[in-house]
Amino acid sequence: MRKPPDWKVPFAVALNLHDHNTYDGKFHNQRERYTRFKHNLPYHAEAYAHQSDILNPGDYRLNDEFIKTFFNDPSDIFNTYSLVNKGDILVFTYTYGGIRKSKDHLLETILKKHKDIFEFEPKKLWDHYCKTGAGEEFKVYYIDHHQSHAAYAFLNSGYKQSDILAIDGIGSKYRTVFFDKDQNLIDLSDKLPIGWLWNHMSNLTGFGTLGASKLMGKVGYGKYDDYYYQTFETIFNGPITEKKQKHFKYISLDNGEGKDVGLADLAFTLQKFTIDKIKQYIYPLKTCDNLCIAGGVAYNGYMNEEFLNHYENVFVPPAVGDEGQAIGTYQHCVYTQNKNKIHKSETFAGKEYEYEGDEKVDYKEVAQAIADGKIVGWFQGKSESGNRALGNRSILADPRNPNIKNIINGTIKMREDFRPFAPAVLEEHYQEYFDTRLPSPYMSRICKVKSDKVPGITHIDGTARIQTVNKEFNEKFYNIINEFYKITGIPMLLNTSFNCREPIVETPQHAIRTFKRTDLDLLVINDWIIRK
Ligand SMILES: [Fe+2]
Repeated sequence: MRKPPDWKVPFAVALNLHDHNTYDGKFHNQRERYTRFKHNLPYHAEAYAHQSDILNPGDYRLNDEFIKTFFNDPSDIFNTYSLVNKGDILVFTYTYGGIRKSKDHLLETILKKHKDIFEFEPKKLWDHYCKTGAGEEFKVYYIDHHQSHAAYAFLNSGYKQSDILAIDGIGSKYRTVFFDKDQNLIDLSDKLPIGWLWNHMSNLTGFGTLGASKLMGKVGYGKYDDYYYQTFETIFNGPITEKKQKHFKYISLDNGEGKDVGLADLAFTLQKFTIDKIKQYIYPLKTCDNLCIAGGVAYNGYMNEEFLNHYENVFVPPAVGDEGQAIGTYQHCVYTQNKNKIHKSETFAGKEYEYEGDEKVDYKEVAQAIADGKIVGWFQGKSESGNRALGNRSILADPRNPNIKNIINGTIKMREDFRPFAPAVLEEHYQEYFDTRLPSPYMSRICKVKSDKVPGITHIDGTARIQTVNKEFNEKFYNIINEFYKITGIPMLLNTSFNCREPIVETPQHAIRTFKRTDLDLLVINDWIIRK
């Protein structure tokens, strides 16, 4: 008798519209870091190359070409990387836009024996599609996009039970989903399409697709405007239709005080509207003291902080957007196929690079340089999962300097001058400077700043998106902040992602290139210092 295969989960693929990524249990391959296109747009022909770290070879192809060469032979996704072997589990999820043009083709090829797969509709968090097609010696494992967001947040939280909010612009079937502590799925997509609204307002205000975080940077500059609030109410009060989207362009950005003021007021009012709707629809659903949040809207730090008023514990993991989809899908599969085994992903799940310089770094010297006004590129070990630099691919500066925001925005990041910078604060000191109740290791919450000693990281509305750092989380990062603390008495550094109009630097070569073409003063790569 043939022995049944010992099913393996080689890696998971998220068939995304943007932020393509794979995960093999250790290495989180965020394609944008290698192709060097933010969010991996335009769609790259090698969107899912599993181990490839080839730097952008300049051979990217636009959408149609991508579809022709990639999705017209989707077996490449799997066969090329030896996934569909006997005993393997083919693990994936998708977004509506990610397979828009290829669904039929997928069903004729790799999913030929799984015709009913896209009919799958979960009722509970751990529901899944998992089948071996007739004659096939591999399993196909599929979950919905929002289940992946939810699983990623919950399985990394350490909570035994939790409410979970999975909220974004669009996945495959949903926009907003709430799971109660018994894992029941409540679909709020029609009532609470918050991510969808932010996406459209981002486009309307000129920040473009995936520009919601830039629009959020304007919140602090604005004030309440009833015109915008009532407009959002009208939009929410009815089904989402293509027809309605055409009307968005008639929303006026000039509210009598000029377009800049109108834009900021729109942002402020949208943020208030978001929190009001969250309170209206999510708060009554509470079934326990813990809440996990994921999905693109979970990058909204104001919203995440607000949840602390309603839940005892709130967990927001680092790669909350679609760039974390492969991790959640992988974790979900490991959990359901291995008797509830919990696989936790590392925060620093990227690659590590060898580098040898000429001069060893002295942390005291670097901290003193920052205290003297220098701006430092800080590159250590493995890269972070998610959009936030958490101490391994960071630019560090003095939070006491009131002009530092303009200097970094203007001479290093080359980005809009209104965008704020975040502090990385030693965990044992965060409550001396910030009015919040829990640590925030992944820079996921925006709270009030209590001190006037750190104007460089204080946004115009008196807030900051804080990262709390302890030794266990990132010892080298802790040590450099601690050296700065010993010199200045301020236990924090300004921490922003190490990049200049491109994805976060991935390799030492990226770091050196950015160092050379910007006004960065010093560069630290692992144990080495590089000067100009
Ligand atoms: Fe998503």
